[in-house]
Amino acid sequence: MTRQVLLLFICLLFVGSVLGQVSYSIPEEMARGSLVGNIAHDLGLQTKRLASGKARIYTRDSDEFIELNRERGVLLVKERIDREALCRQTTPCALHFQIILENPMELYTVTVQITDINDNAPTFEKNEIKFKIAESTMIGAKFVLERAADLDVGINDLKSYELKPTDIFSLKLHNNADGNKNVEMVLQKPLDREKQEQISLVLTAVDGGEPQMSGTMLILITVLDANDNAPVFTQHTYKATVTENSPKGTVVATVTASDADQGSNSKITYSITNTLDDIRKVFQVNKDNGDVTLIGNIDFEQSRSYQIHLLASDEGGLTESCKLIVDVQDINDNKPEINILSKSNVISEDANLNTVVTMINIEDLDSGENGKVQCFISENVPFILKMSTGNFYSLVTDSDLDREKSSEYNITVTCSDEGVPSLSSSVTLTLQISDVNDNAPVFERSSYEAYIVENNTPGLSIFTVKARDADWNQNARVSYILEDSSFNGVPVSSYVSVSADSGVIHAVRSFDYEQIKDFHFHVKAQDGGSPPLSSNVTVKMMIQDQNDNPPQVLYPVQTGGSLVAEMVPRSADVGYLVTKVVAVDVDSGQNAWLSYKLQKATDRALFEVGLQNGEIRTIRQVTDKDAVKQRLTVIVEDNGQPSRSATVIVNVAVADSFPEVLSEFTDFTHDKEYNDNLTFYLVLALAVVSFLFITCLVVIISVKIYRWRQSRILYHSNLPVIPYYPPRYSDTLGTGTLQHVYNYEVCRTTDSRKSDCKFGRAGSQNVLIMDPSSTGTMQRIQNEKSILDEPDSPLEVGEFVTKQSSNGRCWPMCGSSAAAFISTSQII
Ligand SMILES: *[C@@H]1O[C@H](CO)[C@@H](O)[C@H](O)[C@H]1NC(C)=O
Ligand SMILES: *[C@@H]1O[C@H](CO)[C@@H](O)[C@H](O)[C@H]1NC(C)=O
Repeated sequence: MTRQVLLLFICLLFVGSVLGQVSYSIPEEMARGSLVGNIAHDLGLQTKRLASGKARIYTRDSDEFIELNRERGVLLVKERIDREALCRQTTPCALHFQIILENPMELYTVTVQITDINDNAPTFEKNEIKFKIAESTMIGAKFVLERAADLDVGINDLKSYELKPTDIFSLKLHNNADGNKNVEMVLQKPLDREKQEQISLVLTAVDGGEPQMSGTMLILITVLDANDNAPVFTQHTYKATVTENSPKGTVVATVTASDADQGSNSKITYSITNTLDDIRKVFQVNKDNGDVTLIGNIDFEQSRSYQIHLLASDEGGLTESCKLIVDVQDINDNKPEINILSKSNVISEDANLNTVVTMINIEDLDSGENGKVQCFISENVPFILKMSTGNFYSLVTDSDLDREKSSEYNITVTCSDEGVPSLSSSVTLTLQISDVNDNAPVFERSSYEAYIVENNTPGLSIFTVKARDADWNQNARVSYILEDSSFNGVPVSSYVSVSADSGVIHAVRSFDYEQIKDFHFHVKAQDGGSPPLSSNVTVKMMIQDQNDNPPQVLYPVQTGGSLVAEMVPRSADVGYLVTKVVAVDVDSGQNAWLSYKLQKATDRALFEVGLQNGEIRTIRQVTDKDAVKQRLTVIVEDNGQPSRSATVIVNVAVADSFPEVLSEFTDFTHDKEYNDNLTFYLVLALAVVSFLFITCLVVIISVKIYRWRQSRILYHSNLPVIPYYPPRYSDTLGTGTLQHVYNYEVCRTTDSRKSDCKFGRAGSQNVLIMDPSSTGTMQRIQNEKSILDEPDSPLEVGEFVTKQSSNGRCWPMCGSSAAAFISTSQII
């Protein structure tokens, strides 16, 4: 204040018209009405003067910041004074005005210096500024920043800058020649867009006032991308599995690479880089999304794993590679393969156990369980499958083979793997079992019994033995052989023969029941194997009886011309046993069952014959009137069909003494009645024979005549006949069994219509011929209904039948009647 006043005085001294000069100094921004200075006092004026002088402020400026309070004689702040508005940067800043007084006119110059207060902060023109800086920018690069401005002056002016944070950029102030400072920021370390794309910094400008004020500016830095990053795969090695036979288009895996760069620098393209192998024919990678897809066939059996080299490249040309290992998973897509290495089609039925029949190799291309193969064969066959090394199997026999049970086997070998689902394949082997001669022929029966009726035709087939052989072909070809043995000292081969091929047994000869009732022999059946096998069977032949023997009268003995008579005393009572006719029949059974009948008698009322026992008894009292000579003809018949009979003449003498008998019997042979009968028959027979001769001589050739003559010669030579008793006749009287060989008197016709009759020869010494010297013989022959057949003669069966059927017609014209005639004529 003191200084201001002093200054005013100096002014007043130099300016005559100017009475005084006052200076004041006030800070800006004082409140309205604030006191600037006591002008009255400072000018030494009375407040009255001020009033009277109409003191007022005069200024050239339009704005009046200061007003004069006349009453108080002070200067007051009229309006807010902003130094910055008033003076800008000029210093010092002062308001100059005059106070004018009238009456008298006085002029006072007042200067009010406005001092600065720090009422302005430093300011930047923009709140923020943006930079785009490539990340590749070198360290040390400078970026000029905007300067801040502070309206205040002096100490209140801008003092310094601050940049935060300071890690990437630092601030560098650079003093200009004009005293201003250039503000720069300098890159301290490399930028990495991939780490920090946006960087914001705050630049603060501070002034030197008290209190200090500041202004800030935001610096936004965008780091621009450079292709400084290669693509990066998420894994260095990828692994994937794919099942074989997957369809084309299957996505096996997806590889992903990322590129930290931006835009085209991060645009990744995938590709497969394998060159030598055929990977690119099998796999394809989608160049955009990295999907690895199948474009070919995957076959585990060809390749179990694939290595795919993949490349990812960005458009800036940076690349990265990775590896994709694709493991192929097997699926059971291969059937086991059965290979037959060797096989035999035929095996002998006597093959040893463990004989190898077939060798098989199994292969399955699959792996693991899918390739594990189990083989088995059809059940119930005598074979087993044996596993030898590796996948080799051999089919061997497991039990004995028998062609007779099963001559062929179809063996199915089935192999299946253990995959799920399991695959299998099978093969059928056909094996023939060849025959070995291991079965002997077997007869259908353990023994045979055969029946043949005696007097058969030689060569007659009797029956058939049959043996079967279970073997095959030659081994089963059965031949029948009659085993050598003999019966009664005669070899059986002279009885029967066996047809080697058919087993038919033929009679070799005609059998005679009276000689042989049965016999047995063995037949062997032998097969054609080598060595042959055989078995034998016993055949029992039973010969059946035919009624071929007439009864034989043993008693009374019939002699040629001799006379034997039974004596019956006249005193004999009723039932007196005169004699007994004893007869036998060499046949058996019914054929030998004899019955006796009285055929003719001198006196039928006197005698009877026991039907069964042949006893001749009287049936009434013998009287004196009864003739001495009684002649009985007894017929003995067997019970055969047809029956055969024999007659016997029993002479009975009814007398008490022998001489009486003798006298009576001397003319016995000249019996009248007998002779009458005989004469009649002789005439009849002669007529018949004559007729026969005439007819035969005309029709039949001389041979037959010759034979007829021989028959005559035979009869001539053999008469008279001596009766023959077989040695054992007495023992076997009842059964009539004859043990020895007999020949029989035979009458036979070859054809009854030709009336051709023959006599057989009585060849052996044992000849039994009925006494033909009686008319009874004639009658017997005439009544005979059966035929005697000569055993040794070759007679055909058909012929035999014919003869039987025409028996009745044969006999009356037959040679037997002629023989009877001849015999009788001899007796005559
Ligand atoms: C074996 O198979 C063949 C042909 O398939 C057939 O003819 C034959 O009867 C079969 N054999 C057996 C014993 O099953
Ligand atoms: C018949 O066969 C049996 C065994 O079956 C044997 O003992 C016997 O000797 C054979 N007989 C003949 C005559 O060959």
